Amino acid sequence: MKKIPEHIAIIMDGNGRWAERQNKMRAVGHRQGVEALRSVLEKADELGVGHLTVYAFSTENWARPKAEIKALMMLLLEYIKSESKALHKKNVRITTIGDLTAFDQKIQREIEKAKELTAGNTGLNFNIALNYGARDEIARGINGILEKERRGERGENAKVTEEEISRSLDTWGMPDPDLLIRTSGEMRLSNFLLWQLAYGEMVFTEVLWPDFTGEHLVEAIEIYQNRDRRFGSIE
Ligand code: FPP
Repeated sequence: MKKIPEHIAIIMDGNGRWAERQNKMRAVGHRQGVEALRSVLEKADELGVGHLTVYAFSTENWARPKAEIKALMMLLLEYIKSESKALHKKNVRITTIGDLTAFDQKIQREIEKAKELTAGNTGLNFNIALNYGARDEIARGINGILEKERRGERGENAKVTEEEISRSLDTWGMPDPDLLIRTSGEMRLSNFLLWQLAYGEMVFTEVLWPDFTGEHLVEAIEIYQNRDRRFGSIE
């Protein structure tokens, strides 16, 4: 395939509706969502995508019913525990964005373990957005800059630059996403990578996340490949 995006970001939407349509609990939809993620991750790896960022839990998702949050946390813990060794074997590097301090200690430990285990891997970077919100990320980043200022680590009268803001974000070190995919027919960013998606190409599909497969990923990449990216310039 020509021109594979270096970084793909995905809003995995529609798990709840997928379950409700089958008169099942929403958690069943999330569990099926993990299966979809497996298939997409495998395809991304096969295609040579550099970074795959998935929106697994947003800063706003805490407003969901307690039972659903608990089910999502259990799923996350189960996934990290069962999958990290297999991903390590595939040379996948696991990273996260978002504020992990809000999670249970046990979850934080398992995530740290998975990150440490895979830190030296050179294949696909699988980046999971957890307790992530772009506004929260930007606010944390700016607070980090202010802290440096207070410690006198910035030059005298140094102005904040785009580069300094980019450096302060959780995604530092990763290229901005070339392609954003959102499933389930919703067409909004929902506080996902607002800074980084300034020039990202967006592909929206009606397919609900649990039904999304590696083949759908290929279709989205093909749409991306036919886009004319001008970054504000002209031909
Ligand atoms: C959005 O669907 C999906 C989520 C809020 C959670 C996404 C989580 C997973 C796919 C599984 C967990 C991930 C990992 C890495 C283990 P929705 O519930 O908002 O669906 P709806 O809009 O149809 O209600």
